[in-house]
Amino acid sequence: MATPMGPSFFSSHRYVFIVILSCLVSTAQATQWIDYPSSGVATMTHYTLPNDYIASCGCTADSTHYPTAALNQMAFGSSTAYGPSCGRCFKLTLLNTFLSDPPFFPPQQKSIVVKVTDLCPLSKTGWCNATTSGPNAAGNYLNFDLAFPSSSIPDDFFPSDQALYGYTDFGVWNVSYQTVDCKPNWAGSKSAAALGSVVDLGDSVCCPVNPTGNVNNTCPSFSDDNGIPPNTSTTAGSGESGSSSLHSSLWPLCGTLLLLLPVYASFSPSSL
Ligand SMILES: *[C@@H]1O[C@H](CO)[C@@H](O)[C@H](O)[C@H]1NC(C)=O
Ligand SMILES: *[C@@H]1O[C@H](CO)[C@@H](O)[C@H](O)[C@H]1NC(C)=O
Ligand SMILES: *[C@@H]1O[C@H](CO)[C@@H](O)[C@H](O)[C@H]1NC(C)=O
Ligand SMILES: *[C@@H]1O[C@H](CO)[C@@H](O)[C@H](O)[C@H]1NC(C)=O
Repeated sequence: MATPMGPSFFSSHRYVFIVILSCLVSTAQATQWIDYPSSGVATMTHYTLPNDYIASCGCTADSTHYPTAALNQMAFGSSTAYGPSCGRCFKLTLLNTFLSDPPFFPPQQKSIVVKVTDLCPLSKTGWCNATTSGPNAAGNYLNFDLAFPSSSIPDDFFPSDQALYGYTDFGVWNVSYQTVDCKPNWAGSKSAAALGSVVDLGDSVCCPVNPTGNVNNTCPSFSDDNGIPPNTSTTAGSGESGSSSLHSSLWPLCGTLLLLLPVYASFSPSSL
């Protein structure tokens, strides 16, 4: 990309104006991530994560020896690689089954503390489809996809009674969630090998030991940092692939421009 630093850059008001507009559009896209409160109600599903598998965040292989979950994409905060939810720990408490008829309310409310290590991809339907404009089929903006079965979770964690209810696997649960410190709440927090990111994947991984949401200890969004729109295929599908490549190529320029704006203003007192 040509450097925007030359005199011709400053001579074109219109060019600067267009870039500012594009930056605003890109920023609007970045705010499409779901900003969730620290506690509330969510759905919980489960998926198969092979032991020692390095999932989206790039957390260590040993993290799979402890309870982990994938979070729905728009709450995860990135369409690929890592996002701000990577490494965060949540206490999840089973409330009731969502799909069975009648719903099953277990007499004892079991809880588990999970660390988010993976991304549950956005789709049009399904439990990970919430966006800022609408929740999933249960009315929730968060879905935790628990890695289960897991060597760290008893097989009877999900209560079921086939004789009574006709189900051995209730599938989707209504849960309450609460953000908690990974240390000391997550079972893996006592194992140094289970904490942190794998090193051999370099800069494409981010799995803090104990992220709290503070910019200093929490992952940025890989998507935002690389100009990848929240859902690439949606953008392409609605015929906006041109504008999405524009966003990617303009992203680095946005940062530069924001730094240059005060300089530009002092060079050129006339209004845009
Ligand atoms: C997002 O992308 C996936 C493919 O990666 C696609 O199947 C899905 O329908 C898209 N989501 C939405 C909400 O359109
Ligand atoms: C998610 O999928 C359900 C159907 O499973 C649908 O009712 C709901 O509107 C979808 N949510 C979004 C945000 O698209
Ligand atoms: C899920 O649990 C919450 C809190 O107990 C309750 O308000 C809500 O109705 C439940 N939703 C379903 C679908 O069972
Ligand atoms: C992040 O760390 C820097 C340097 O240690 C510190 O000055 C800043 O206050 C921290 N930010 C927050 C939000 O804690």
